[in-house]
Amino acid sequence: MDTRSLHERLAGKLNIPSLPEVIVRLNELIDRGDVRMSEIGGQIALDPPLAAKALRIANSAYFGLRVPVESIEHAASVLGMRSLKSMVMQALVLDLFRNLEDIPDFDPRDVWKRSVVASRVAMDLPRRSLGGASYEDLQLCGLLHDIGEFVLVDHFGSRFSKLRKKVEATGEDVVAAEEAVLGISHVAVGALVAKRWSLPESAARAAEFHHDLDGVAAQDPLVAHVAYCDAIVHAARRDLAIEDHERWIPAGPRELLGYKEAELEPCLRRARMLWGKSA
Ligand SMILES: [Fe+2]
Repeated sequence: MDTRSLHERLAGKLNIPSLPEVIVRLNELIDRGDVRMSEIGGQIALDPPLAAKALRIANSAYFGLRVPVESIEHAASVLGMRSLKSMVMQALVLDLFRNLEDIPDFDPRDVWKRSVVASRVAMDLPRRSLGGASYEDLQLCGLLHDIGEFVLVDHFGSRFSKLRKKVEATGEDVVAAEEAVLGISHVAVGALVAKRWSLPESAARAAEFHHDLDGVAAQDPLVAHVAYCDAIVHAARRDLAIEDHERWIPAGPRELLGYKEAELEPCLRRARMLWGKSA
């Protein structure tokens, strides 16, 4: 059986949650382009717990607003429609996977925090061409590129969390290790989630290829940016020095984008601050 059919057979056993109707309609509204703030606000208000969480995120350090926002309409006008989409997706994902709190050695907030910080760091990088995608697309890619991890831990429980702990300690290739032990990797599952949720093509590409560091991530500027942001978050967690960035940023994305130390320094500072470390 080839890898793709093996993945499809395994995928049939995985629990990939459906997107709530309110999100599907919200995405349609935002993609239409000519939508009014009041329509967006009205749509999110149909789900009060989601609206409350989204507002909490809008007022968190993630967006760093000077003046607090008090309504979804206000958040949309200050942050823009596409950032609003990221904000609502942040509110949604932990909700969808909240049952994961009971799995030993696994903190879903930690996985999510990595993704949230990666997506925020992306907004601090100096603007370069993303090959047709926008920085708001990149923000969503940063947020959802590791979404497959939630599905895998939901299915494999502590088998997944133990494997990830081992991979983190040994530094072995995470995708190869997941394929070898579980039969499927978080990137393959991420691609399936992207399809199921009808995510933008850019988010599907980032989910599938962000570990393909010598392949797609060395040629595609959007995926290379996601790999950069991942590396910056890793450096923030591990207290790696900016002066050593050529060692901790993978060669493929680094050679494609070539950000300088001075350009990366504010991003690493932001990542450290959001991770809860002093600047
Ligand atoms: Fe990943």
